[in-house]
Amino acid sequence: MLSFLRKAGFSNSIARRCAEDESTRLRLKYSPYYHTFSGQKGTRVTHEGRELVMLSSNDYLGLTCHPKVIAAGKAALETWGSSTTGARLSNGSRAYHTKLEERLAAFLGKEACHVSAAGYLSCMSAIQPFAGKDDLILADKNCHSSLWAGIGLTQSRVERFGHNNPSSLAEALSFEKPETAKLVALEGVYSMEGHTAALPEILAVCKNQNCFFVMDDAHGFGVLGPGGRGTAAHFGVTDEIDLICGSFSKALSSTGGFVAGSRAAIEYLRTHSKQTIFSAALPPAQAACALAALDVLETEPQHLENLWRNTRRYRELLLSLKLDIWGSETPAVPVVLGSRERVYPFWQKLIEKGVFTVMSIAPAVPPGKDLVRTAISAAHTDADFEIIANAFAAAAKRW
Ligand SMILES: Cc1ncc(COP(=O)(O)O)c(C=O)c1O
Repeated sequence: MLSFLRKAGFSNSIARRCAEDESTRLRLKYSPYYHTFSGQKGTRVTHEGRELVMLSSNDYLGLTCHPKVIAAGKAALETWGSSTTGARLSNGSRAYHTKLEERLAAFLGKEACHVSAAGYLSCMSAIQPFAGKDDLILADKNCHSSLWAGIGLTQSRVERFGHNNPSSLAEALSFEKPETAKLVALEGVYSMEGHTAALPEILAVCKNQNCFFVMDDAHGFGVLGPGGRGTAAHFGVTDEIDLICGSFSKALSSTGGFVAGSRAAIEYLRTHSKQTIFSAALPPAQAACALAALDVLETEPQHLENLWRNTRRYRELLLSLKLDIWGSETPAVPVVLGSRERVYPFWQKLIEKGVFTVMSIAPAVPPGKDLVRTAISAAHTDADFEIIANAFAAAAKRW
């Protein structure tokens, strides 16, 4: 068998599996992902010599080029160097970690916070240490991959409930003993769908059911709630959500992530989360950029206002073209085309007309929900809107 594989040009089965994978072959042929941009400035990217409007990044507040954010990143590099080159458990926290954690905890109305080098790691660490083998995890079936990755590292029993569906959650609970320890995993704003979690209804069905709530608010932080304090603050239920996790790679225009909760839960996470114990700390420049963006969010309310003004304008535009936006209520806006055959030409037409988006096809989305995923930013200008409107009108005409 092995000699057969070598003859065919593969030294092993796994290498052959990669080469024969149907979707890999298609991607090698059409390369719809991993485009290389030779330049980026604000909402514009340069692709093969052409300028495109970026409509799939999550720079919600448009702060990636804010002078205060850039200055803070540069100063942090000068002061602290490029990296801690190790995990905080082994070679210590830095003052910029603890400062950012204190500021985030206060902003979110939680006692404590822990930051790490990626939102993905933070969201995993908000689950993995907390659920044991005798516990039950109840997860919204459309939760982000990072929450599922954390769930996959537990030995807990797992039940999926219908997406953003309190009745489905109530049904799942009805089969369980109230005293069983349960962890409920959900998103504040669902990244692909743009739906806001039905938090009041979900909390109501979980009352007296011994539930610990973990909410990934990567797309609600800096977007929803008073001053951008997120989805829990939007509904006035911050005290009822045990852990709020999220990412700096959206509204805070950096990279990295956080988990905020009680002092005891965060201390527990720091000594039980594999993602924290065995992974290098958030680097200085990224922490400084996130902190500067948080300062801007707190002192320059115009960015949040512009984001919502642009969101309303963008939604109206798509609805006027009779496009299906899956009931999105937020700046994360999917355009559902329903099949892979429809998504590809739609996406291609957008690029041809100067707009960059990303395709998301099943199994990344439920069957029949194949879509282009877009996100509007406070930084999109009237000129950007003109290009976006022409591109969507042309793409919508094709099918
Ligand atoms: C809902 C959600 N959670 C977590 C993450 C992971 O964040 P990061 O990109 O900072 O690793 C993302 C990023 O795509 C996300 O959309």
